[in-house]
Amino acid sequence: MIRNLQVAPDHYLLELRLPAEFPCPEPGQFMMVRLRGRDEPFLSRPFSVHNFRMHRGSVSLEILYRVVGKGTLLFSRQSKGTILGILGPLGRPFRISSICPTVVLLSGGIGVAPLAYLAHRCRGRNAGGKRTSIIVYAGARNAQSIVGIKHFEAVDLRICTDDGSRGFHGPVTALFERDLCSYDPEKTMIYACGPPAMIGSLARILEATSFSCQVSMEERMACGVGACLGCVTAVKDNGGRIRYERVCREGPVFDIRDLAGLKTDPC
Ligand SMILES: Cc1cc2nc3c(=O)[nH]c(=O)nc-3n(C[C@H](O)[C@H](O)[C@H](O)COP(=O)(O)OP(=O)(O)OC[C@H]3O[C@@H](n4cnc5c(N)ncnc54)[C@H](O)[C@@H]3O)c2cc1C
Ligand code: FES
Repeated sequence: MIRNLQVAPDHYLLELRLPAEFPCPEPGQFMMVRLRGRDEPFLSRPFSVHNFRMHRGSVSLEILYRVVGKGTLLFSRQSKGTILGILGPLGRPFRISSICPTVVLLSGGIGVAPLAYLAHRCRGRNAGGKRTSIIVYAGARNAQSIVGIKHFEAVDLRICTDDGSRGFHGPVTALFERDLCSYDPEKTMIYACGPPAMIGSLARILEATSFSCQVSMEERMACGVGACLGCVTAVKDNGGRIRYERVCREGPVFDIRDLAGLKTDPC
């Protein structure tokens, strides 16, 4: 561990130094992380790649996390020099379109973590013969809990807070819905990560449209590699029949239209 910085109340940025041969993750992939030499908590915890950089002779991995329970509390108490066990990169990444020159990212809270790395990888790309333009809707409870936005430099960043203390007063989905008609469904790819109510709201907004939207799902995980079936989520097939897929193997990135059982109440 190189650093474990508190960046907001209950939010930390963890930076790890890894050997140069560590595989470069794709945006949307995750790592299973645990403290070496401890049996408690026994299971590793899944975290998205927030940033990944190459150095001479090594690479560094950034994880942005929120303290919600036993494991993340323990991580937050670690400092430079702690050795962590890392398994990854795991899961199916976001698909980056080569034909959509507009990329819209919607994050709710700590959902910003994988989208920052995605924005980093989309920046400077060309798609459909045009330079990619990136619009980010970043939502948080209040101004203090906005994290991870430094990676959104040089993009069109639209901040939303539930209490109106910064940016738009209201959920990201409300601002996005207001702007929706300014986007062309043929030329826009939408990516989202956030709490279930936000994803449900987004699914409702997009239902009657032809926009493509990929969502990174969060589910509790035990093994992270497809063996325990502890992370299954309900998806619909083409005929509308429900089946279950493992978030760690078939996901964590899914097409929003394939997800079944989303909460649809406004967030
Ligand atoms: C693919 C993936 C990527 C993730 N990326 C990040 C990230 O970049 N940053 C980050 O802060 N968190 C991320 N998470 C969520 C993170 O894994 C959990 O917050 C963490 O495992 C909680 O561990 P804990 O021991 O602190 O909490 P626990 O004590 O195990 O649980 C505390 C509370 O958190 C809930 N919880 C636990 N695990 C999850 C989970 N996986 N998803 C949703 N709720 C959960 C529990 O239901 C409980 O209410 C990701 C999850 C997945 C599946
Ligand atoms: S966490 Fe074990 S199958 Fe997904």
